Amino acid sequence: MRIDRCNNIGDFRSMARRRLPGPIFHYIDGAADDEVTYRRNTEAYERCDLVPNVLAGVEIIDMSVTVMGQRLDMPLFCSPTALQRLFHHDGERAVAKAAEKFGTMFGISSLGTVSVEEIGSTIRTPKLFQLYFHKDRGLTHNMIERCIAANFDVLALTVDTITGGNRERDLRTGFTSPPALTPKSLLSFAIHPRWAVNYFMHEKFELPQLKDYVKEGSNVSVSVGDYFSTMLDQSMNWRDAESVRKKWGKQFCLKGIMSVADAKRAVDIGASGIMVSNHGGRQLDGSRSPFDQLAEIVDAVGDRIDVICDGGVTRGTHVLKALSLGVKACSGGRFYLYALAGGGQAGVERALGNLRAEFERDIS
Ligand SMILES: Cc1cc2nc3c(=O)[nH]c(=O)nc-3n(C[C@H](O)[C@H](O)[C@H](O)COP(=O)(O)O)c2cc1C
Repeated sequence: MRIDRCNNIGDFRSMARRRLPGPIFHYIDGAADDEVTYRRNTEAYERCDLVPNVLAGVEIIDMSVTVMGQRLDMPLFCSPTALQRLFHHDGERAVAKAAEKFGTMFGISSLGTVSVEEIGSTIRTPKLFQLYFHKDRGLTHNMIERCIAANFDVLALTVDTITGGNRERDLRTGFTSPPALTPKSLLSFAIHPRWAVNYFMHEKFELPQLKDYVKEGSNVSVSVGDYFSTMLDQSMNWRDAESVRKKWGKQFCLKGIMSVADAKRAVDIGASGIMVSNHGGRQLDGSRSPFDQLAEIVDAVGDRIDVICDGGVTRGTHVLKALSLGVKACSGGRFYLYALAGGGQAGVERALGNLRAEFERDIS
């Protein structure tokens, strides 16, 4: 299958599955425990019906929105995700350029594989940096300072990874970052020669936001669960979140808010946005879906803070349903990661283009 024949997320997912070594595909595709929440995140949109109004004169459609002070040409953006150069050798560069082409925002993870300096100097569309709160405060502060210098627009502090989720697919496949060279992984590379050639022939894998602070360097294989439990600060609390906001001083968002009580506290500490999110079902299985929490959260804080619905989006109608409940925009990870794996920048453009066209058709 070619990228230009991919019409929906399922098509991109099949392509990613064929192109990627098994452990890497399952790292993207998998979630926590029984993956109930992962499935629920999309099913929640499907349980909601649309009742259209007609004769509204829709020859000109303006899909732009303003979220946390950023004007986006469409109400969907790319959530921050880790390790993108494992999925395609262009990694974050490809996603950033595709987002720029569609006039939307994208996020760079603390575990990003391209430096914030490079992204900041080459990309003009709104840029979000996702911060993990590390035990090593020097590292946390260094990331914030680098993002200020690189002119990032929004800082999102992830608050739902206090411990690593139980991602059983990763346990089964032995996924590590970067991939460890074991007989099993070498076999999976051998049966995906195109991926292997690209991975090994391009610049060496590293985590540029982290590497100066990790004793052994960031290209030593480690599981994502180990990273969460050894490097992130389990004592993180509301005071810490507020101090991060103050240090950053610009648009600030909490990523991983699910309860109304926490949404109110986000307002109290001066956040400009919240990403209602359960980390794509990768952390607490059994969590409600973001979509099912929107009505209550928007009702409680929607006039004081920008609410974003993160996760489960596979169709334009999902974005439409979330917007009709009062959120400013939607965001997601897998919808563009499968496409990145399948076709690099062209793949991400195709995924964004498909969803944009669907949304435009749906609101017409
Ligand atoms: C492969 C992968 C890596 C991710 N890495 C991060 C990360 O480094 N930081 C973070 O805050 N969220 C991360 N997320 C969560 C996404 O930002 C987002 O919340 C999630 O993908 C939304 O669900 P969706 O994939 O169904 O759209 C990751 C998600 C995936 C699938």
